[in-house]
Amino acid sequence: MKNYTSLEDIENLEELIFEARELKKQNSAAEVGKGKTLGMLFFNPSLRTRLSTEKAAKLLGMEVMVMNADKDGWALEFEDGAVMNSNKAEHIKEAAAVLSQYCDIIAVRAFPGLVDREKDEADVVLAGFEKYATVPVVNLESATGHPLQALTDAMTVSELKGEKKPKVVLTWAPHPRALPQAVPNSFVEVMQKMDVDLVVTNPEGYDLNPAITKDTPVVHEQAEALKDADFVYVKNWSSYEQYGKILSEDPVWTFDNKKLGLTNAAKIMHCLPVRRNVVIADEVLDGKNSVVIQQAGNRTFAAQAVLKRILENSK
Ligand code: CP
Repeated sequence: MKNYTSLEDIENLEELIFEARELKKQNSAAEVGKGKTLGMLFFNPSLRTRLSTEKAAKLLGMEVMVMNADKDGWALEFEDGAVMNSNKAEHIKEAAAVLSQYCDIIAVRAFPGLVDREKDEADVVLAGFEKYATVPVVNLESATGHPLQALTDAMTVSELKGEKKPKVVLTWAPHPRALPQAVPNSFVEVMQKMDVDLVVTNPEGYDLNPAITKDTPVVHEQAEALKDADFVYVKNWSSYEQYGKILSEDPVWTFDNKKLGLTNAAKIMHCLPVRRNVVIADEVLDGKNSVVIQQAGNRTFAAQAVLKRILENSK
């Protein structure tokens, strides 16, 4: 693995999940990253991604540098040939090249603006680092994808599924803010690579990018989709069709015990942070079917497996 910017960078998902699960069993330090430095740049807030990736790097023996790039760094210009006579002080060409002198791996989080779909789909921040860094680049959640979260989600399903092929449902839930499609995009993509029956359910107007869902069934009746589900991934996203818009905050889509009762005693997943009693009811989050804490715990080992692969590849 050279970079980890999308799920396409995984050569063999089953093997990578196995490695993450083995690393979880060991939960101990290793030497593969000794003398190497991970630099993490956050253009947006984070709790899990920041701390689990830092822990993962340290478990591999790496040094870690973290920067809140939106607050502490120079405003970056990403356009080639730009006349930089406005508020952008530094070009990505220099920034990425300089960081590549200090770091052996650069990891970047940059959310979408949710105003201009074409611009967001160009993922200019991540693409800029990929283009101009001379060291491997890791996606800590970009405008369109969150592959570290998706690997964690796949690992969690792998840990908890039984012998039979599970039915996995991704359900939209309400939220007062317009949220990106990155997490549901990557969840759909990773589940499509696994031996599961995947169904997506959301209100009309909230269908994800059809280039992502492909032939995965998209059902607009939540109750119908939830029937016999073994895993339910609850998540809000803003409209893709009416890009970035909130079309509904209908609490009828909130995931509560009544919805849980429609399933096959499903394990309930969410990437966190979650708005209680808006997205998922207390009774579910505090109940025995919720696996959100185990899921968040797995972030460390998924990140560790990815960083280890990159380090081994760059020896
Ligand atoms: N799930 C996730 O990426 O959490 P953070 O935004 O806290 O990193």
